[in-house]
Amino acid sequence: MENDVYYLNNGYPMPKIGLGVYKITDNEMATAIESALEVGYRAFDTAYLYDNEVALGRVLKQSEIARDSLFITSKLWNDYQGFESTLKQFNQSLERLGTDYLDLYLIHWPCAEDDLFIESYKALEQLYEEGKVRAIGVCNFTKEHLEKLMDATDIVPAVNQVEVHPYFNQQQLQDFCDDNDIAVTAWMPLMRNRGLLDDPVIVEIAKRYNKTPAQVVLRWHLAHNRLIIPKSKTPERIEENFNIFDFNLEVTDIAEIDALNRNDRQGHDPDSVKIGTLR
Ligand SMILES: NC(=O)c1ccc[n+]([C@@H]2O[C@H](COP(=O)([O-])OP(=O)(O)OC[C@H]3O[C@@H](n4cnc5c(N)ncnc54)[C@H](OP(=O)(O)O)[C@@H]3O)[C@@H](O)[C@H]2O)c1
Repeated sequence: MENDVYYLNNGYPMPKIGLGVYKITDNEMATAIESALEVGYRAFDTAYLYDNEVALGRVLKQSEIARDSLFITSKLWNDYQGFESTLKQFNQSLERLGTDYLDLYLIHWPCAEDDLFIESYKALEQLYEEGKVRAIGVCNFTKEHLEKLMDATDIVPAVNQVEVHPYFNQQQLQDFCDDNDIAVTAWMPLMRNRGLLDDPVIVEIAKRYNKTPAQVVLRWHLAHNRLIIPKSKTPERIEENFNIFDFNLEVTDIAEIDALNRNDRQGHDPDSVKIGTLR
């Protein structure tokens, strides 16, 4: 497949599309992951919070695909921010996933009021220097959080994973990340199928390209240089979401989708999240 890999700011290759596994239960995991591997996914995005690292690790191991052909991301949960507890949590994620390294480890939320993200990130830097993780980064960081982090630490985050979709395109944050060589990964890239895929503009563009609305939205993300981790437990959708490398959107169509932005954040505002507020 062409153009399917993004080189992070340290040169490490990350597949442009991965399968998000939030809400995929242990019972659903084998079907989802086996279908994903079958159609060509090699990247998987989990977290302590999703409570499915064990199931994901087990299915990946059973697939007998070489570890170095896979890209596994996990995340540090808020309650465990702090230097020592980050190291401990990282090692526990490795154990649950049954692997001796992660490709990417991210701080899940800044929890800026608790003021522990710098310490936590310093632990990520140590893990990176020790070779236990190939790249490190953050999620849900605003420009202000990133500036504070970069002033106080040595390694520029490889990734900032944030909510982005056509109704909430976060263009300013994207520009800041582009300027600083931080890859943006879109979480909720399909806006959880809550109406976006029925938007008349997207439906009309999809018809013209003989693609589905989901494929058009995912291609729009790629046109903006973003990584994507759409979640699905449904084999047909898993395949549909992956089949986006055989077309390009015209500049005018990209602009039409850009114009749908209405700053409609669906998830939490990062500044409202403190340690203990989410479970
Ligand atoms: N860092 C963070 O704070 C954070 C927060 C949220 C999510 N994430 C990550 O981002 C991933 C993706 O985000 P998300 O799960 O919130 O939302 P999403 O990927 O935008 O949407 C997932 C929903 O859309 C449906 N869907 C998937 N493909 C479809 C298609 N082709 N046509 C129609 N419906 C489709 C899925 O249904 P079925 O599963 O029923 O097929 C599921 O209900 C997560 O799994 C997680 O890994 C990270």
